[in-house]
Formats: sequence, structure tokens, C-alpha cells
Amino acid sequence: MKFVKGLAPAVLLAAIFCTGAYAEDSKTNVPAHSVGVPTNEFKAKAGYCETCHGLSARGFIGTNPMPRLAGQQPDYIKNQLQAFIDRRRLNPVMGNVAHVLSPAMVDALAAHFKDLDPPPYGGAPKELMSEGKKIYHEGVPGAEIPACESCHGADAHGLDQFPRLAGQLDGYVIAKLAHWSKERGQDPKNPDNSEIMGPIAEKLSKEQIAAVAAYVSDLK
Ligand code: HEC
Ligand code: HEC
Repeated sequence: MKFVKGLAPAVLLAAIFCTGAYAEDSKTNVPAHSVGVPTNEFKAKAGYCETCHGLSARGFIGTNPMPRLAGQQPDYIKNQLQAFIDRRRLNPVMGNVAHVLSPAMVDALAAHFKDLDPPPYGGAPKELMSEGKKIYHEGVPGAEIPACESCHGADAHGLDQFPRLAGQLDGYVIAKLAHWSKERGQDPKNPDNSEIMGPIAEKLSKEQIAAVAAYVSDLK
């Protein structure tokens, strides 16, 4: 296995720390509408995702925060898996994970995660949440930052290609918003939905990011 220079230690640590999150999940059954995905393969794959993404895909804090997938919009999950494969979204671990999944397996996993509803992981600073709530629902008119709810929904559950943010790990949201232009939309010849979010991430200050991340991470 060859790693991109400089990334190997982080990747290895992620793999080691992730195993702590694993446990058998009794809710892991092939979603009813999934055709052509054998139950044992599906269970093995969903269990594998949970070794990093946490029990019931609630998210997990290892060396880096692993994003919550529970309740996530299936269209958004499919878009991101394809973006990892195309290297439009940069993450060496997820590139390898995604490129071996069949389209039927992707459908089955996306439907499965949509149905999971564990409580938020929690742990964000409570004192930032009221400021974050204001930004989420009203935006920051003076800085031309639109209300997050206009795309991500009043309950932050997202819709279709607009991701759910409710219950997403605080540290993950902070890291994504802070590094958007370096990690997402990395193929200018093949533009994607990351362009919608890019200019907004760019305008948010560090303090605003911390506040809005704390707020959404606490939502059910
Ligand atoms: C070895 C650890 C690991 C495994 C196993 C793993 N993931 Fe991930 N996944 C990650 C990391 C780390 C990220 C965050 C990448 C980033 O920061 O951009 C991620 C991100 C994602 C995202 C994007 C989430 C978002 O909110 O944008 C999706 C979708 C995803 N993974 C799906 C899966 C699926 C489906 C499986 C199982 C087939 C899986 N992952 C297995 C580590 C893993
Ligand atoms: C005009 C619509 C729009 C608005 C307004 C908007 N977003 Fe987004 N956001 C998106 C889209 C679309 C994506 C998915 C991008 C992709 O698929 O690459 C996204 C993705 C994200 C992500 C990445 C989620 C993940 O799981 O990796 C975060 C975090 C985020 N938005 C936070 C915010 C915050 C905070 C605000 C308000 C300050 C906001 N967004 C306002 C459209 C919007």
C-alpha cells in the first residue's frame, strides 16, 4: 500500500484509533428495497464503516473527528463517495474505502444510514451555542453570509443533495469549514456542489465557525 508522502502517520493512527468504536449493531439489516446485496456482505460492510464512523454511525472522536453519517441525506452520501473516488474531495482513507463499493452497496448503505437516529455525540462548548443559533437561522447580513437554514433546513436535517448538519461533530464541522477550498472541489474541470458552499465557508470567521459548529452539533 502506498501513501501520499507525509500522510502515512495520520492514516495509520486513524486506522488504529478507529477500532475502539466498533461493536455489533443489532439494527444492521439490509434495507428492504435493496436488491442484489447479500445480507452477510452488507452487514460486514456496514460494520466496517462503523469502525471509523462510530456505533450507529453517530460519529467518533479518535485522532481526528470522524463524521456522523446517521440521518445523513442519501444523495449527499452518494455525491461524497463519488467525489472521494474522483479525488475532487481529498481524503486518502475515504478514497480507498469508496472505490471498492458497488453502486448497489452504496445505495444500500446510504439508505441504512438515513434510518439511524442515535443522539448527538455532544461535547461542544455550550456558551457558543446562542451565537451559533443566530448565525444558523439569520446569517450575518453585514458580512453577506446567508442563513444556513435556507439550504440546510430549519431543523438542519438537510434535503437531497444538501447535507444534514444536525448532530454532526463539532470538531469535524470546524475542520471542514476552515479548510474548504483545500479539500473540496479539487478538480476545476469537473465542478460540483462544493462550489455552492465554498464562498460561504470563505466568509465565515474562525469565531463564527466555532459558534455555528457548536450549535448544529447539539441538534437532534
Ligand atoms: C478507516 C476509517 C474509515 C472507514 C473504514 C470509513 N470511513 Fe468514511 N470517512 C473517514 C474519514 C476520516 C472521513 C472524513 C474525511 C474528511 O475529513 O474530509 C470520512 C468521511 C466520509 C463521508 C463524508 C461525510 C460528510 O459528512 O461529508 C462519507 C459519506 C463516508 N465517509 C462514508 C463511509 C462509508 C459508506 C464507509 C464504509 C463503506 C466508510 N465511510 C468507512 C474515515 C473512514
Ligand atoms: C446556498 C445554499 C447553502 C447555504 C446558504 C449554506 N450551505 Fe452549507 N452546504 C451547501 C451544499 C450544497 C453543501 C454540500 C456541498 C457538496 O456536496 O460538496 C454544503 C455543505 C456544508 C458543510 C459540509 C457538511 C459535511 O458533512 O461535510 C457544512 C459544514 C456546511 N455546509 C455548513 C454551512 C453553514 C454553517 C452555513 C451557514 C453559515 C451554510 N452551510 C450555508 C449549501 C449551502
